[in-house]
Amino acid sequence: MASSVRIAGVGATAVGRLGRSAEELAETALDRALADAGMGRGDLQGLIAVPSLSNPTFMQAHQLATRMGLLPRRKMIVRTIDTGGAGPITSLGTARNMILSGWTDTVAVVASDAVLSMDRELFRARADDSVRGSGLPSPSIPHGYDRVAQWHMARHGVTREQLAMVPVLFSHFAARHPDAMCRRPFSVEDVLASPRVAPVTNVLECARRADGAAALVIASSSYVRRQLAKPLELCPAIVSTGEASGPLYPPAEIGEEMFSCERAAHIAFESAQLSVRDIDFFALYDCFPICFLRALEAVGCCPVGEAGRFVESAYRRLAATGRLAPEEFPFNTHGGLACFGAPWEVPAMYGVLEAVAQLTARAGAERQLSPKPRRALVYGNGGIFSASAVAILGDGVYGARGC
Ligand code: CAA
Repeated sequence: MASSVRIAGVGATAVGRLGRSAEELAETALDRALADAGMGRGDLQGLIAVPSLSNPTFMQAHQLATRMGLLPRRKMIVRTIDTGGAGPITSLGTARNMILSGWTDTVAVVASDAVLSMDRELFRARADDSVRGSGLPSPSIPHGYDRVAQWHMARHGVTREQLAMVPVLFSHFAARHPDAMCRRPFSVEDVLASPRVAPVTNVLECARRADGAAALVIASSSYVRRQLAKPLELCPAIVSTGEASGPLYPPAEIGEEMFSCERAAHIAFESAQLSVRDIDFFALYDCFPICFLRALEAVGCCPVGEAGRFVESAYRRLAATGRLAPEEFPFNTHGGLACFGAPWEVPAMYGVLEAVAQLTARAGAERQLSPKPRRALVYGNGGIFSASAVAILGDGVYGARGC
């Protein structure tokens, strides 16, 4: 059995309006991840892909594997996983399990989409259709999150301004990332003056439509040592993962039972025998501000009901100095979904890529946490709080369950 499972290579395309198909982008990202690991297509024994919205195909991973000449091959497992935006983290956990079970030594995970090059109306129709039956007005996904935001505001006293502070904080980080779509920091006033999409949601608070792909090459530590020139220290371990599910869209009466991030985080922490105090960097899904606020509470960064004030205190520090040090707010230093860019089910991959950059001290002078984090937690969310997947990366307690 593998002693630990490592992220041996990462690769991505640019993010934005790229004018290339999701399949082409996936191929580029995967080849880059393989090159980063010092591997070739012939070394892969597994491939996991998540579906794309722009070009939905039957058995997406098989399509890609066949297109890339990875099949037919005797030792090859190919699987498509659809837990929406949680998909990359579910895939990471599945890849880890495949390796720990001895099925394979290497698995690639790839996510790609081209939703910015899609016709705007077609995007809206397909996005609305993804929560068919919800009865939510169009655009249905922003309206779904908006309903939850209003519920949370009424229950915990979160203010409209506190919601708006979330993308403001991340715009400051995104402006320091060469690949992010948001190129300049904006203010709370900018957010509140941007076009209204739903009662408490404006454009600058929405996951930003984008084209892009990202891939990971995952391998057993013994494979890394045996076959790769890359030092093991540059290949963070997948220490643990956890998953939980909620309904596809909010029920008529919103209640705590629809949320699943807390359970997913609990599973990940328990199986790693770690707690939130052991985590130095967080990549938390933030398709809309309420998703980030709920995640802060769910993973234990602040008590339930306090996330609005938690964000506001970071914002006040930023407002006082004009600058946000990554150590002061060790979250989504790439900029998150609204500011980095959100190609549908890809964004949790950007969280993993940023976590890997942080853990290997490669995030660059502007975004790197100092001292280098030992462990990171990445959370992916699918649908409207419908799927939660959490991964803990970095130093593990080896010998603990599953690691
Ligand atoms: N920051 C800056 N600009 C933004 C922005 C953001 N976060 N979001 C949109 N914009 C801009 C666009 O760039 C565009 O600008 P231009 O006109 O200059 O090109 C303008 O706002 C209009 O946006 P759209 O072209 O997208 O067209 P629209 O007006 O029809 O729609 C919108 C606006 C309703 C906000 C739409 O962009 C939208 O629906 N966004 C949310 C996408 C979404 O729901 N993603 C999934 C999130 S849930 C999840 O991630 C889980 C999962 O399982 C997938």
